[in-house]
Amino acid sequence: MDKTKWPAISGLVAGTFLLTRSVPTTFAFDKPVHTSIVVLASCAAAIIGLSRLLPQDGGRSHKGQEYDALPMGDIGQPENSRASSPSPGDVRYPSSLRQLRMLFLALVLAICLRVEALREVLANTQCAGLSWEPLIPFALALLDYRAVQRRGMRAAPDDPDASVYDALEERLLRAPYSYALAAGLLGMGGLLTTALTTSPKSTSICAASLPYGWVVPVLQHVGTVLDLFIAFCIGQLLHQQEGRGARGVSLRFISVAWALLFSAVSLLSVGVVYYVVSKDDRKGILTIPALYFWSVLRFDALSCFTAICTVITIFHIGTMSTSMIVTFASVSSITTAYAWNNHHPFPSMHANLAFIALGMVLLGFATYFHIEASEDKASSSTVTFSKVPSWFYFLLLSLFAVRAGIWATRHTTVSYHPIDMLIYEAQLQHEAYISQTTASKNLTDAVRVYKDRYSRHPPPGFQHWYEYATARNSVVIDEYDSIYQNLLPFHALSAQTIRQRTWDMTSNPWNDAAGLSVRNGEVAISPNVMPTHRWMLDGLVDMIGHFAQHLPDMDLAFNLNDECRVAVPFEKIEPMRAIGRGSLLLNTVPKNEFSERRDEQWQPVPDPPNAQTPLKELSFQRTFYDFGSVGCPPHSSARTQRIWDVNGICMSCSAPQSLGAFLANWTTAADICHQPDLANLHGLYLSPAAFKGARDLYPIFSQSKAHGFNDILYPSAWNYIDKARYDPSDDHPDVPFAEKNSTLFWRGATSEGVSPGMGQWRGMMRQRFVHLANNINSSGPPQTLLLPRGQHSLAYTQLPVSELTTLMSTDVHVVDFIARCGGRDCPQQAHEFAPLVPPTDFQDHWQHKYLLDLDGAGFSGRFLPFLHSHSLPFKAALFREWWDDRVTPWHHFVPLDIRGQGLWATLAYFAGLDGIVNGRHVKVAAHDVEGERIAERGRNWANQVLRKEDMEIYFFRLLLEWGRLTDDKRDEIGFDVDTG
Ligand SMILES: *[C@@H]1O[C@H](CO)[C@@H](O)[C@H](O)[C@H]1NC(C)=O
Ligand SMILES: *[C@@H]1O[C@H](CO)[C@@H](O)[C@H](O)[C@H]1NC(C)=O
Repeated sequence: MDKTKWPAISGLVAGTFLLTRSVPTTFAFDKPVHTSIVVLASCAAAIIGLSRLLPQDGGRSHKGQEYDALPMGDIGQPENSRASSPSPGDVRYPSSLRQLRMLFLALVLAICLRVEALREVLANTQCAGLSWEPLIPFALALLDYRAVQRRGMRAAPDDPDASVYDALEERLLRAPYSYALAAGLLGMGGLLTTALTTSPKSTSICAASLPYGWVVPVLQHVGTVLDLFIAFCIGQLLHQQEGRGARGVSLRFISVAWALLFSAVSLLSVGVVYYVVSKDDRKGILTIPALYFWSVLRFDALSCFTAICTVITIFHIGTMSTSMIVTFASVSSITTAYAWNNHHPFPSMHANLAFIALGMVLLGFATYFHIEASEDKASSSTVTFSKVPSWFYFLLLSLFAVRAGIWATRHTTVSYHPIDMLIYEAQLQHEAYISQTTASKNLTDAVRVYKDRYSRHPPPGFQHWYEYATARNSVVIDEYDSIYQNLLPFHALSAQTIRQRTWDMTSNPWNDAAGLSVRNGEVAISPNVMPTHRWMLDGLVDMIGHFAQHLPDMDLAFNLNDECRVAVPFEKIEPMRAIGRGSLLLNTVPKNEFSERRDEQWQPVPDPPNAQTPLKELSFQRTFYDFGSVGCPPHSSARTQRIWDVNGICMSCSAPQSLGAFLANWTTAADICHQPDLANLHGLYLSPAAFKGARDLYPIFSQSKAHGFNDILYPSAWNYIDKARYDPSDDHPDVPFAEKNSTLFWRGATSEGVSPGMGQWRGMMRQRFVHLANNINSSGPPQTLLLPRGQHSLAYTQLPVSELTTLMSTDVHVVDFIARCGGRDCPQQAHEFAPLVPPTDFQDHWQHKYLLDLDGAGFSGRFLPFLHSHSLPFKAALFREWWDDRVTPWHHFVPLDIRGQGLWATLAYFAGLDGIVNGRHVKVAAHDVEGERIAERGRNWANQVLRKEDMEIYFFRLLLEWGRLTDDKRDEIGFDVDTG
């Protein structure tokens, strides 16, 4: 048995390390009770399996008597098991059966309560506070101290030769409180270092009007106390006097296993009762997603391995020492990984203090084992170390060296403002764009550039398009990469399949896809379109009508919902894209006309309508893993990780597109593959109002889409027919930037997704930003500012929202009433976001310098009017539209991360601030020149490339391409200068 000591300890350290690494991204906490039952039961089985290997140690094993291990089973026959009188042994451990039974029951109860506390905390992690788990060894040491006190002080051998120093050391080591001292040092250091090295608080809403703000931290502490109790009980069971003797060792392990199994069975029974009682949740209880299943399997294996190592370690070195090892291993791996990954000035961190705290952890840990070893020499007991190996100190020293290196190389200040640099880079980027897109000066050039870019002939009728575009002074002639990207995978489908799938979409009104048909240069709306969406189709008919005479006969399916629809898994769509890239036909001479009699190829919409649908309904449900991320590579984090802890910002998710607290790369920000945390941060992924999605490539035209969706983007009729118009008047003037009020302004509805009663609103972007911009009962977590420090540098500082709202002016409110909610989520939101304000005239926006633009269920229809104004738009968005590559962030508008972490720092840059911050007067000049320049550039650029004419030109080119794709002779037709 002794041989297992060091392997178990090493296994424990490795298991703890691996668990702390995998816990933040596991799916296992999606269903904490399911997971707990599985883990408890399989750990029990593993320990029972293990105990079968043990008895050789004790000598004899009697078949059929294993179940005596369960103290419950001994009721009424205590004398039997007491064959040998217990050794006078350790007062710390229980010896009577009655005690053991109590202990066993208490342990089962504690485990069940712990699971419930975990479940409650997980349901509201955004309200979680600092965990006190690192104090558990300290508490165990205190318990130990009390127990040992009863025996009197540990005996100190007299040594006449000892020096004063030795004597002092000896006294300290032998003092009854020495363990408590060391464990206390480790606990305090652990607490401090975890407090200092955690991600900044996220913007997920811990509602001020709900009790979770204090309930969750209390539950966390209850959980910690239960953990302490569980550790204590397991320690007691493993060291019970009762079990000493022939089958002693295995008996003790089996009693622990039975406790785990009993807990699992109790939880399972409660679960079954709950299942019978609650009718609504039944489906949810029985659904086991595949991702969850595999994740739990891995988590379970790791947990069981760690559990086995833990019990063996407890058996050898006691609960207190084991808890020291576990705490040390988890605290040092969590905080070291965090410090390693976050060595930039943002997020701000008290690096010196964190380093000192880690020093305390190391010192406490080393001292503890030093005491343990020295006690060991004196008492020669078998459960402790005989001496501390030197490699142990070497390991601690190397850890210290690593942390010292991280600490020494960390920058705490920046010498320039990141926004200055971003604005400068944006200018270069925009210039590069202009020079690319205006390369061609005549049709021949345009054809050549087209062939160079897309390795194909332009579609038939390209000369009409060119004429149309140049007659309307289009700046953009060459750069239509988004059309190319959108249509690329469709080359893998035959024209006949595309036509069939268009019909599949439009023939069933349930699909929410409206048909438009082009026949002989006329556009017509298919029957059975919902009247509420009539405006959209009228706008489309108007827009397409301008150039329909040049289009071939075809039917088109338009998405009537705001949410995007088609997400084809990466494994399927990538080969299709490859086919698209491979279908190059440059050496043939194309025919510059579409096939004859195309009208006959499109099936008419049937009456009565078709009842079949290829779509899956996911309204009001989470869509991230079923649709949102399937377009990502299989090993990307969006498909393999679940960021369940919404309490902190996922720094690894936001880092690739950030420069400090600011959004640096709008394109990378749109790529969700490295951002699994988005599953909890947008209504589309949390609970969309209308989501009917396909996982096969169906051709549907949408106004906007999130990354990974394969909808075909077209210019929205909303903007084309001015549903939100930039129309200043004498009553609502658009005054020059300098004369506007320096306020960040937003009005809108909670329409991003539906919150039907499960609190989904707490993650939705609109709600988060409203919460972030307002001081709601002083409940907001602190937010980051970048403030001057010293003469030439800047440093990030955290300030509570209550102070920020006094330094800068925001006017960000939900209008009228809470839309799209159900059950308790309606009154709760109304309470949280009170006062709800009456809607304002859209033209009131222009009074304000800074206009916040947040997308909702789909794209934000206000952005283009904002861009046309003299005000400066701040935009946070998941959805991207047809114009995305035309407009340059930081050059034409101010981009914000969807997480909202840079909102206040960005506003502070433009609006400036003047006030008392953390007790010192700070004055930051407003960057009005920069703000006005961006606002005016955006306005001018919008007047050049985002006019209604530009929407027509884009759409015209898109539909010509689409006409070719749906043509049976698509490989033979096209435009070339010679044929045209
Ligand atoms: C954003 O990132 C993409 C991909 O990493 C890169 O190609 C592009 O140049 C970056 N844009 C800017 C403005 O840095
Ligand atoms: C700025 O706000 C004040 C008070 O809210 C208002 O009276 C004033 O008209 C606003 N200024 C402009 C330019 O709209």
